[in-house]
Amino acid sequence: MTNIVREFHRHYYDAACSGNYGQGLHSQTLYHGIETHKCPLDLWIFQEILTEVQPGLVIELGTYLGGSTLFVAHQLQLHGRGMIVSIDNRELPRPSHNQIRYLTGLTTAPNIVEAVSESIATIGDQPVLVIHDADHRYDQVLADLETYSPFVTPGSYLIVEDTHVNGHPVLNGWGPGPFEAVQEFCKLNPEFQPDRSREKFFITYNPCGYLRRSLSEPASA
Ligand SMILES: C[S@@+](CC[C@H](N)C(=O)[O-])C[C@H]1O[C@@H](n2cnc3c(N)ncnc32)[C@H](O)[C@@H]1O
Repeated sequence: MTNIVREFHRHYYDAACSGNYGQGLHSQTLYHGIETHKCPLDLWIFQEILTEVQPGLVIELGTYLGGSTLFVAHQLQLHGRGMIVSIDNRELPRPSHNQIRYLTGLTTAPNIVEAVSESIATIGDQPVLVIHDADHRYDQVLADLETYSPFVTPGSYLIVEDTHVNGHPVLNGWGPGPFEAVQEFCKLNPEFQPDRSREKFFITYNPCGYLRRSLSEPASA
């Protein structure tokens, strides 16, 4: 990453987070009027991946106000098929759409995982894609990835958001988070590897976070 890209990334993120959930660019990044905590360049990558994969089900961990959920639902609507199940531990006002199902609870709570499994059972052999944007602490990310990765179908994606924290290149000193969890997860699950071609717009909140599941499982060591 060149210095100019790194500096712009930091500048953008500082502006996005100033005032935290109050006044920064994140609170002014609106999808159909709904606050969406994403870099728009990543949303374009989402659109490209969703078009390629044509998932029957997207599982989103971390809904917040539902901006990213509605974005995905609109892509699925254009494809003419697919649902998004979005999980958050908080009840907040969110947009309705007939291709969105909201679940309230912790990502790893057994009743939530069971509800997701029930949704998967209804879609036959259609592709499943997972987006992680919930608790960004190392242990929780790793637990979420281990819980939800088995749902990802070969050739589809497990997108791990905000791998840029802890100095990659923002929030130096944040502590081990999504980036470090991804490194460990990919060591343990070599069928998932970062698809770095998804970082083509130079700035992404998800460096090494677009994990593609290979079509054939690597032989175990
Ligand atoms: C970064 S926000 C999600 C942003 C949203 N995806 C967007 O792009 O606008 C993270 C959300 O995850 C929720 N969350 C954090 N830890 C969680 C957990 N263990 N289980 C479920 N939800 C969690 C938080 O309450 C918060 O609403």
